[in-house]
Amino acid sequence: MKRLLIVHHTPSPSVQAMYEAVRAGASTDEVEGVEVVSRAALAASAVDALEADGYLLGSPVNLGYLSGALKHFFDLIYYPCLEETVRRPFGAFLHGDNDASGALRALESITTGLKWKAVQPPVVVTGEPSKADLEACWELGAITAAELGGV
Ligand SMILES: Cc1cc2nc3c(=O)[nH]c(=O)nc-3n(C[C@H](O)[C@H](O)[C@H](O)COP(=O)(O)O)c2cc1C
Repeated sequence: MKRLLIVHHTPSPSVQAMYEAVRAGASTDEVEGVEVVSRAALAASAVDALEADGYLLGSPVNLGYLSGALKHFFDLIYYPCLEETVRRPFGAFLHGDNDASGALRALESITTGLKWKAVQPPVVVTGEPSKADLEACWELGAITAAELGGV
């Protein structure tokens, strides 16, 4: 059984809707052999990260960057995971009011440092998530799970 860890900071209904869609996609019956574990970013540990085989990362954009909560997760896990988690797959979803570019840059820089492998570009939503946005979140979850498991 492979483990897919969702690490998210969810402070609002928009991010919650995206998180729920990502989690539903990650848990789809179409993919076998994957256990989904979810942690709030401020509660996730380096052990959680080490014990997972892949990651889904979710955050609002705050002050032109990732949320402090997701940044805190990366601060915690960076050195403990640096050698152990090389090439593990990840997907990400971000929500902002207007401009996610700083958060995207930060995410790319951190995950490049960790040598994680993006399964697809992050899903970025501004404003209230549409049906199509939530479908993209579902797909992100399912595609990341499929990367780990069997279809
Ligand atoms: C302190 C703070 C800083 C924020 N900074 C940004 C920002 O730099 N860029 C942006 O697009 N949205 C920014 N936002 C908006 C949040 O990303 C947005 O509130 C969050 O994704 C939740 O969306 P919602 O309030 O529409 O549910 C900020 C929000 C707060 C509270």
